[in-house]
Amino acid sequence: MTKVLVATVKPFIPKAVEGIKNIVSQAGYEFDLLEEYADQAEFIDAVADADALIIRSDKATREVIQASKKLKIIVRAGAGYDNIDLEAATEKDIVVMNTPGQNANAVAELALGMMVYFARNGYNGKAGTELKGKNLGIHAYGNVGKHVAAIAKGFGMHVYAFDPYIPKDVIENDGVVCVTSAEELYSICNYISLNIPATEQTIKSIDYQLLMKIPEPAVLVNTARKEVIHEDDLLRVFEERRDFVYLSDFAPDCKDVMVEKYAGRFFFTPKKMGAQTAEANINAGIAAANQIRDYLENGGTTFQVN
Ligand code: 3PG
Repeated sequence: MTKVLVATVKPFIPKAVEGIKNIVSQAGYEFDLLEEYADQAEFIDAVADADALIIRSDKATREVIQASKKLKIIVRAGAGYDNIDLEAATEKDIVVMNTPGQNANAVAELALGMMVYFARNGYNGKAGTELKGKNLGIHAYGNVGKHVAAIAKGFGMHVYAFDPYIPKDVIENDGVVCVTSAEELYSICNYISLNIPATEQTIKSIDYQLLMKIPEPAVLVNTARKEVIHEDDLLRVFEERRDFVYLSDFAPDCKDVMVEKYAGRFFFTPKKMGAQTAEANINAGIAAANQIRDYLENGGTTFQVN
């Protein structure tokens, strides 16, 4: 019998799991669930006899992929698939997909939420600042970037975006000013929202030279990936600019230095939680299950990434 494994260290809410289970059962497949596993070995064991796999940020390494005996498809219920060894999957003819857009609003709401939280001094009762009238630069304009823009416009922010892969008219139709380089974006906007994936080109690409361009007072908001930041450069910028603030959905590796030296100038969620809403769990989980069914029954490859 075809087996679908949901392996999530960070579990979906029960309603999302129920929805996935229903789709899987209606298709006549077996459903298997591995949540909050403490060791990668448990994941490796569970994947051995699975035909299809749904994961979140779980690490589908070469070792995991090679341990699978009959895996045909992996769906990352979410946007970023930097946690999957695509080469290892392709070598075994395993199709890899993501579910683009399904958790984008949740991530965008967190980006704006962190901005308001910080602008109001963590709600400590003292006078803060407003987002209205401030320049926000969106780097880049994918599903999350688009949602960040829509919400920010509701706040009355002036919204700019840089994305070399999205046509200018698509960006400008949303009432967002399209700029032609990251340097230009960072030179214009006090607030920068990072919405780039972690790829060979983007890892450590947010560096000293870019960050120093942000006008005072500078607020860098990262709901993308910690790996895109050049952390040595980030610390150098913190040292040289007292106005610089970093708000992120994951603590950087240099967190201890920041806690020691730059208290009050950063905020980090305790655990990546951009996509942690009931709606995002349900949207992404159900989309993943439907994509698996479509692939196994019809050979549908929409959102294949390898
Ligand atoms: C994504 O790439 O979709 C987000 O980073 C969410 O990741 P998560 O499902 O592990 O919360």
